[in-house]
Amino acid sequence: ARRRINHQLCSRNADGTYGGTFPPQKFYETFVREADHKFHPSWAPSKIWGFDGTYPGPRYNAYYGEPIMVRFHNHLPSRKTHVGFGMPEITTHLHNAHTPSESDGNPADFFNSVNDPDEVNPLGFKDQHYPNVYAGYTALNDLRGDPNEALGSLWYHDHTLDFTSQNIYKGLVGVYTLFDHLDTGDETTGLRLPSGEFDVPIMFGDFVFDRDCQPVFDLFNVDGILGDRFCANGVIQPYFNVKPRRYRFRLYNHGPARWYEFALYDGRGFIPFWQISNDGNLLPQAVQKTSVRLSVAERADIIVDFSKIQSSRIYLVNRLKQDDGRGPKNEILNPGVPIIQLNKVGPAVRDDSADPAAAPLQLRPLPDPDFAALLARADKAKKRTFRFDRSNGAWTVNGKLFDPKEAAARIDQESEEVWVIQNRDDGWSHPVHMHFEEHRILKRNGRPIATNTSEYGRKDTIPLYRKEEVEVFMRFRDMKGRYVMHCHNVTHEDAAMMMRFDIV
Ligand code: C2O
Ligand code: CU
Repeated sequence: ARRRINHQLCSRNADGTYGGTFPPQKFYETFVREADHKFHPSWAPSKIWGFDGTYPGPRYNAYYGEPIMVRFHNHLPSRKTHVGFGMPEITTHLHNAHTPSESDGNPADFFNSVNDPDEVNPLGFKDQHYPNVYAGYTALNDLRGDPNEALGSLWYHDHTLDFTSQNIYKGLVGVYTLFDHLDTGDETTGLRLPSGEFDVPIMFGDFVFDRDCQPVFDLFNVDGILGDRFCANGVIQPYFNVKPRRYRFRLYNHGPARWYEFALYDGRGFIPFWQISNDGNLLPQAVQKTSVRLSVAERADIIVDFSKIQSSRIYLVNRLKQDDGRGPKNEILNPGVPIIQLNKVGPAVRDDSADPAAAPLQLRPLPDPDFAALLARADKAKKRTFRFDRSNGAWTVNGKLFDPKEAAARIDQESEEVWVIQNRDDGWSHPVHMHFEEHRILKRNGRPIATNTSEYGRKDTIPLYRKEEVEVFMRFRDMKGRYVMHCHNVTHEDAAMMMRFDIV
C-alpha cells in the first residue's frame, strides 16, 4: 500500500518561511525576483535573481501520478531600469520532466516582468502544468510495482532564448524531486532509501566574483565561463554536519560550463559510495564507486554510509581539471579541490534505510531489460544524425543556428527512432540534452554500452567528448508539440547550439 510521503512543499508557511510538512497541495506560486544573497558568511551581500528570491530556488517535492500547477510570477526589475547582465524575461523549464509542450519552458516562450506592464504579458505571470505522469505510465503498473518510467532528481531553470546562461548565472535554478511507490521518501517502505533530512540535494555551480562580491559574467567568453569559486547550494565551500548513518546526496551540476568528477576524500584516501541514479532515474542496481562524473545538467544520486567511515572529517572534492569552457581534458587531480567539508558528529542514530553493502541493492528494473533485444529493435528504427559542431565560428547543430520558428525534425507520435549524436570536433565537448523524452544510450563510438556502467540506464543528458559519436534510442509517446535538444553548456546553447523538434 502507498504511504503518503513527507511533502516539503514549496509553499509559504504563515511565518513567511518555506517548506514544512503538510498534505499535498496542487497549486503553487513562485515569485521570481531580485534579492540579496550571501555566498559566504563574511562577504557583503550579492545581487541574485531567484525563484522566491532565493538561490537555489525552493525545492519541490512531488508525487508520481499527482499533477501540480505552478504559477510563475515575473517580478524581476523592469527592462528599462535593469543594468548589468541577465534578461528580466523568463521561461522556466522543468529539466527531464514529461511536460506538455506549452508548459515545457520553450526558449521562445519567455514573458516579461510585471514591472513592464506595457509589454505582451501585463500581469507578468504564467501557469505551467506538470502532470508528474510519465511515458508508459499506467496506474496498474504503479499498483503492481512494475516499472513505470519514473523519475527522481529533476531540476528547474530559466531557458530564455539567448539569455539562459546569464539568467542561470543570476541564480534562476532549483531542485524538483519526484517520488513514487518504490522511492517513497520513507525509509520504512518501498526501496527504503535514506529520506527526510537524510535526503539532501546539492546543487553545484561555479562563479567569478568582483571585489564587491558580485558575480561577474563575461559576455565575450563564447566557450563557457568557468568560475574560480565553487558553490554548493549557493554557498562557497560550506560545511555540513552529518550523523553516523546513511545519506542520500542528490548531486546536481547547473553549470554554466564546468564538468566535475566528485569524490569523497578524508585526508588519507578516497571513500567508496553507491551510485543509485543516473540523471533522474534509479539504476537497475546500485553501483559502488569512488568517484562520479557530471557534465553540465547531469545528476547522480549517491548513498554514503557515514557509520562505516572512520574519519570524522571528509571532503567532497572535485577531481576533474578543466582550464576553459571547451570541456575537460581528462586530467584527474589528486586529491582534488575541496568543495564541501562534511563533519561527522554525534552518536549512532536510527537508520531504517536499506544497506547497499549488505546485498547489491536492487532498484528499478529498466523498462527494456534485454539490451540485445533493444539493439535489434533499434536496427529497425528510423535513424537521424545530429552533428554538434562549429561552422564558421558559430555553434551549430547540423550546420544550423537555432531557429525557434523552424522544426529541424518532425517526428511521428508513438514512433521509435535512433538518434546519432556526433561531435567531430577535436576542440570541444558538449553535454547534449533532449527535452521531453529520455533515451537509452545504445553505443558510444560504435561499441555497445557495457551493462555494468552507470550509462546503462535512462538518461536525459549525454556527455559528448571530443570526436565522439553516441547512438541513443528514443521513443516519442503521449504528447505532441514542440520541444528542443541543445548543448547544456549554456553558453553554447545561447550561441544557438540548439534544434527544435516537433512531435506530430
Ligand atoms: Cu536543462 Cu533545455 O534544459
Ligand atoms: Cu557545447
